[in-house]
Amino acid sequence: MELTLEQELQNAFDEIEIAPDQRHSLTTILNMVKLADVPTYEHMIRCGLLGIKVAKFTHIVDPKALFYADLLHDAGKLLSDPASLKKTEGFGAEDMQEMKKHPVDGYRLLRGIHDFSARILLYHHKYVGEGYPEQIPQSCIDFSEGSAVNIRFYARIVGLIDFNDAMMHRENEKFGGVPTREQGREIMLKHNPDQSYFINQLYDNNIF
Ligand SMILES: [Fe+2]
Ligand SMILES: [Fe+2]
Repeated sequence: MELTLEQELQNAFDEIEIAPDQRHSLTTILNMVKLADVPTYEHMIRCGLLGIKVAKFTHIVDPKALFYADLLHDAGKLLSDPASLKKTEGFGAEDMQEMKKHPVDGYRLLRGIHDFSARILLYHHKYVGEGYPEQIPQSCIDFSEGSAVNIRFYARIVGLIDFNDAMMHRENEKFGGVPTREQGREIMLKHNPDQSYFINQLYDNNIF
């Protein structure tokens, strides 16, 4: 029997040993998102689960850190206009402007609660296409140079996982419906040429 996303999430909590207070924090945020928009909630859980797989595959990112950042990456959508958030067709420039607020909103929502993830999610749309947000708010935490590099590095991976999951699971106009796996690979390569080797590795090894 196939597991529900919630069951898979519980298994992931056990697998990477998330402490009870942290499980409570993460599920509280996710449940708020679920109230706002179920597809976004499901997307965030899938991305979190995929974050663990990608981290284990690469051996160079911490599964727990990538899991948190992926699981929380769209939390800022809690503050998006529901009309834009739930729109599946006729998505216009104004809706796009509204949705472009979510990285900064997510950062503001989660700083002080999950600081490292908050900073990562701020950059999750920064490296594809035109990239946003244009203005990056000052960090309230004085991260070390190394942590600052890691934040951008994790954000690039979160961005790839996010892009791939959104493309493969959502009926949307942007990609003309859900593509096949090989079409998905091509779309990923086209929009993320800086990561072509990594994307091919993820596809060849059935991570994506
Ligand atoms: Fe996003
Ligand atoms: Fe997303």
